[in-house]
Amino acid sequence: MIDWKNVEGVVTLTMDDPSASANTMNDAYLAAMGAAVERLQAEKDDLKGVVITSAKPTFFAGGNLQLLSRIQPSDAAEVFETVEEVKRQLRILETLGVPVVAAINGSALGGGLEIALACHHRIVADDNRIELGVPEVTLGLLPGGGGVTRTVRMLGLQDALMKVLLQGQRMKPLHALSVGIVDEVVPAGDLLDAAHRWIASYDGDAKQPWDRDGYKIPGGTPSSPKLAAFLPAFPANLRKQLKGAPYPAPRAIMSAAVEGSQVDFATASRIESRYFVSLATGQIAKNMIQAFFFDLQAINAGASRPSGVPKYQARKVGVLGAGMMGAGIAYVCAKVGIEVVLKDVSLEAAARGKEYSEKLLAKQVQKGRMTADQVAEFLSRITPTADPNDLAGCDLVIEAVFESEELKQKVFAEVAGVVEPDALLCSNTSTLPITSLADGIDRPDDFLGMHFFSPVDRMQLVELIVGEKTSDRTIAKAYDIVRQIRKTPIVVNDSRGFFTSRVFGTLVMEGAAMVAEGIDPVTIERAATAAGFPAPPLAMLDEVTLTLPQKIRDAARAAGDNAGAFDDHPGMAVTDRLVNEFDRRGKAAGAGFYEYPEVGAKYLWPGLWKEFGPRTEIPVADVRERMTFAMSLETIKCVEEGVLRSVADANIGSMFGIGFPPLHGGALQYVNAYGLPEFVVRARELAASYGHRFEPPALLVRKAEVGETFG
Ligand code: NAI
Repeated sequence: MIDWKNVEGVVTLTMDDPSASANTMNDAYLAAMGAAVERLQAEKDDLKGVVITSAKPTFFAGGNLQLLSRIQPSDAAEVFETVEEVKRQLRILETLGVPVVAAINGSALGGGLEIALACHHRIVADDNRIELGVPEVTLGLLPGGGGVTRTVRMLGLQDALMKVLLQGQRMKPLHALSVGIVDEVVPAGDLLDAAHRWIASYDGDAKQPWDRDGYKIPGGTPSSPKLAAFLPAFPANLRKQLKGAPYPAPRAIMSAAVEGSQVDFATASRIESRYFVSLATGQIAKNMIQAFFFDLQAINAGASRPSGVPKYQARKVGVLGAGMMGAGIAYVCAKVGIEVVLKDVSLEAAARGKEYSEKLLAKQVQKGRMTADQVAEFLSRITPTADPNDLAGCDLVIEAVFESEELKQKVFAEVAGVVEPDALLCSNTSTLPITSLADGIDRPDDFLGMHFFSPVDRMQLVELIVGEKTSDRTIAKAYDIVRQIRKTPIVVNDSRGFFTSRVFGTLVMEGAAMVAEGIDPVTIERAATAAGFPAPPLAMLDEVTLTLPQKIRDAARAAGDNAGAFDDHPGMAVTDRLVNEFDRRGKAAGAGFYEYPEVGAKYLWPGLWKEFGPRTEIPVADVRERMTFAMSLETIKCVEEGVLRSVADANIGSMFGIGFPPLHGGALQYVNAYGLPEFVVRARELAASYGHRFEPPALLVRKAEVGETFG
């Protein structure tokens, strides 16, 4: 696991776990590092220095998340012991009295960076594939291998918290150098020589700054005047950033850092371990590890991509419709080097779509992230046009014209004979069923739904919708394109509203239903934010417009198909009245659940109090759970109906596409963590109080009875 090589008194420790493709903090590592530090201690009088490096493409991948995700509260004492052992070893290394240097040949994240932080010097290979950082916060954890204690002592409280610990940023080598968590960036081929040179030139006793006499934390401790001014505002800022959502990791990180800065190293380190254990034994870290590590990894590794289809790379895309969505799609495609033909009804309209990219790029130039030449090159890839013939040579078409089946079929017909004969045909429709849309399209096997979210440049998710005739080859190609534009694809089967819009609909319509019952709209919005929803339901309904549920209902009625529609949903009474009686259609129209004054922030329309009701109060827990349960129950129906093809797609889709609170790790992980039998009981209670839509689906009841989970 750790190779030992002593050349003229310089020991190189090369980490190389034979059981895995990356080094992680498992039992083998602990045993090997334990033996290595013991031997270093025994031989230290004869040593000139130690180099730590890795034989893997990554330096060290961090904690073992498989193990971490299985930890139970009853394991707390054992976890504490293990973390303390990791730290004991690293502490021996940094107090050995011999200079120790990390030669970071590949990514060092989490525990990997923590090993490097315990070295006296850190040198990184100049390779932009390398990432450095402690992303634990994004998994509901804190860096418990000394990461909090050492970064605070290296950088000071403010920088450690703001630049490293609370954002969990993954930094490229030069960025890490500017932040100060590494000391040198050298050409990859020179890495080991640079490490040896540093040892050879090392003069004095090898000690960390914090082990030297008179050491003071940079920027001071909480009692020093500068920090005394900064720190009191910090919890409030954090609360604001988290919008009151109960994320324990940022709070624990802050407490460990602040408390640890006021005591000696050993005590700080133990405080950090205690906070780590409290997070690692809790449910939120498990939820977040499941979703943001395992589910995401499964999706990115192609779990939902049909196998046996050669990898596809798009070269030239025709985007039909240069409105809000088409303009965004053109931008994300051009960004990765795909040539874009952007077509609208007139050249002016198409050019306006291109202007959207110009605006986004101007911001990049302003921030110093792009040069004028790079912008010019980027923009040269987007050709606006009104002529369908300009789509000649396109191997991919993404349609984003108005939401009309007839129009969509017409624009595909216009380009059918122009584009490559096997071009992939995608529609960005948000509501029209893919199978019936395909009926009017040549080559329906090459056609599928490619549902982007707004704003396209920022939203990570793309929902691929498989119609009855969509071929596996088409799904695989579409999957590849989504990865090519560096987004995350989920694959679902066709259904009205697909997966995301259906589940999103249950959330916003539940908000409307509560308004109908006379529940204070402020309570509804606040409960959602405090539950961890990035945006509350009434505000979101305003964003998507209040006429959308009406359109979906009307289309469903016309098609005689009620799945995914809201025909008998009590929230419809509110949206119908707001639209028909008060002409309040949502944000774009300037009035909806909210008022949108020209100056100042939006506020809830006071008329809501007057028009709906009588005023009722229900427990806040019910307000919160009506939203999370409505979404999870609809998600389970999507599994039951075969709309969803995998649990990973459900979890990632519900968080990335429709804002299911990330602390629950997605809509099905929420049900798993709640416990299926308990979820059934609670769903029945909600059904008895608030309506039959909360009745648990048969699949859920069956799984609860036989002790299964979604997984
Ligand atoms: P938009 O109204 O901003 O843009 C539509 C564009 O299509 C307009 O520029 C229009 O001139 C153009 N167009 C109309 N007829 C055309 C034709 N024959 N040839 C070429 N272009 C034509 O609409 P938006 O919001 O961009 O939506 C486009 C599609 O994306 C719709 O199907 C919508 O349901 C879907 N969608 C919208 C989302 C949103 O948040 N706005 C999210 C996801 C999907």
